[in-house]
Amino acid sequence: MIQIERIIDLKENIKHVKNSGKSIGFVATMGYLHEGHLSLVKNAREENDFVVMSIFVNPAQFGPNEDLDTYPRDLERDSKMAKEAGVDLLFFPQSDEMYPQDGGITIQAGRLSNVLCGSSRPGHFDGVLKVVTKLFHLVEPTKVYFGQKDAQQVAIIETLVRDYNFPLEVRRIDTVREEDGLAKSSRNVFLSQQEREQAPAINRAIQIGIEHFMNTKQVDEAQQLTIQHIEEFTSGTIDYVELLSYPDLITNTEESTSVILAVAVFFEKARLIDNIIIKTEEV
Ligand code: PAJ
Repeated sequence: MIQIERIIDLKENIKHVKNSGKSIGFVATMGYLHEGHLSLVKNAREENDFVVMSIFVNPAQFGPNEDLDTYPRDLERDSKMAKEAGVDLLFFPQSDEMYPQDGGITIQAGRLSNVLCGSSRPGHFDGVLKVVTKLFHLVEPTKVYFGQKDAQQVAIIETLVRDYNFPLEVRRIDTVREEDGLAKSSRNVFLSQQEREQAPAINRAIQIGIEHFMNTKQVDEAQQLTIQHIEEFTSGTIDYVELLSYPDLITNTEESTSVILAVAVFFEKARLIDNIIIKTEEV
């Protein structure tokens, strides 16, 4: 596995790969890898000749009171895991390599960022778009792999790619979970033992809400049941519980072909998100 910190070296390597006619699968991460990330790599490995992973804790997507400084990092362990998973090239730049100067030009996620995580983390998705735009230009991927766990993030990236004609395909990969249903996340390490025991109730609550929606099509009731279950079985504080159409993220309409029930919950030291997306034909 090639390991690279500098953009100039990345470009040189990508040029060689491109010149040899190979397809490139790309997995962008902030590191502290787990099986969710590795499932993206597995899919990229199966569908491409060459797999690139980036590890970069992107300051642009963290708010002033968020966990940029404490975000878990372990590059040594990550690079071992990436290598074993079949990554060909690992790119792990420092901040000043990615953002050496600020020309004042911004990319805004717009309408899609007015709901869910976008409304509780102002500017977050602008920061995500900033970094993925740069990474897409540098890596020149054929296909890029993002997890459904961050469903709003994939929807926004798909829209960027479509509206601005990025020459690549976005692949959305299912959420990988612990055996008890908790969605794998780098931030799960911040849960206390008691919170960790409670956390699977989030996924269960979403299932209860979705089942109710499937049976009744009652959005408010479905949201309410989800809220009740989380409040009863966890000590967390709900940030949001919303049922919307997907991927356009508008209040569910009769015409939408698929819906998302998405949740964010604050625990003492971690904010966890999870969701289920279902096709409305199944409803
Ligand atoms: P990060 O949280 O490290 O996640 C990197 C990728 O792994 C994202 O596409 C995310 O959706 C996916 N992922 C995380 N947990 C997953 C799980 N349990 N199952 C499946 N996929 C999972 O998302 C980011 O980093 C950043 O915002 C980034 C896109 C790298 C831009 O900085």
